[in-house]
Amino acid sequence: MIRGSDGCGCCGCGCECMKRKRRYMPKIIVTDVPFDDKEEEKDSDEDEEDEEEERSGKQFEGRKHPGINILVTGTPGTGKSTLCQLVSDAVTKGGLLKKMEYLDLGKIVKEKGLHDGYNEEYDCYMLNADKVCDALEERMDEGGVILEAHSCDYFPERWFDLVVVLRTDNTILYDRLAARKYKKMKVEENVEAEIMQIVLDEVRNSYKSEITLVLPSDTLDQLESNCQRIIKWITDWVADHPENTA
Ligand SMILES: Nc1ncnc2c1ncn2[C@@H]1O[C@H](COP(=O)(O)OP(=O)(O)OP(=O)(O)O)[C@@H](O)[C@H]1O
Ligand SMILES: [Mg+2]
Repeated sequence: MIRGSDGCGCCGCGCECMKRKRRYMPKIIVTDVPFDDKEEEKDSDEDEEDEEEERSGKQFEGRKHPGINILVTGTPGTGKSTLCQLVSDAVTKGGLLKKMEYLDLGKIVKEKGLHDGYNEEYDCYMLNADKVCDALEERMDEGGVILEAHSCDYFPERWFDLVVVLRTDNTILYDRLAARKYKKMKVEENVEAEIMQIVLDEVRNSYKSEITLVLPSDTLDQLESNCQRIIKWITDWVADHPENTA
């Protein structure tokens, strides 16, 4: 579905490739982290502990500084980088928060080698979820991150205060990916992933609906309103948590 950056110019994190394998090639092991079984593995005692944590607000205890972390996810080409950069600039230049650093997971995976090598057949890096989580943990605990990623079901749920899923009309997405000079097959596979709402389903299975925003990303007007919507969300969060944003 999505190839590595060397082969295609997309993020190279391998996440969509993992999805492809999960859909079509379940025997290929991409990572040690159990994906679809994550929830099933929780026993009832753990569920009760989670509920108790939520009630007491202890879910932030794992973080050194419980500032805002935002995840922006979506099929390639839906506008994650564009939106993340816009929000990061607006928030930091506007002084709303001290820090809202934009991190692109695909670049980090490639730069830091957080993968299990390159898969020639699928023309992508095999993202190693354990390595990714280890590498990001300290920074995420610090807070003040807006993270762009294609896939998200291996991140600790506690990392994110808000999860944004961008959706794009199929025809518009096709044109955007074709403009990148992607191969026809690659364009079609990504558009198919958007039609099958693979990323959206993953988010719905991994995060609570209360912290999830699903936003259309077809036009520049929508880009602007999406940015404003996230800034409004941050503004409200700051008002509710003054002690955490000093
Ligand atoms: N809301 C929007 N309306 C119109 N064009 C947009 C919008 N958002 C992004 N674009 C354009 O679409 C293209 C893809 O955007 P962008 O690179 O931000 O996507 P992405 O989701 O980060 O892709 P990837 O997953 O490959 O990193 C860019 O040319 C960008 O300018
Ligand atoms: Mg991007």
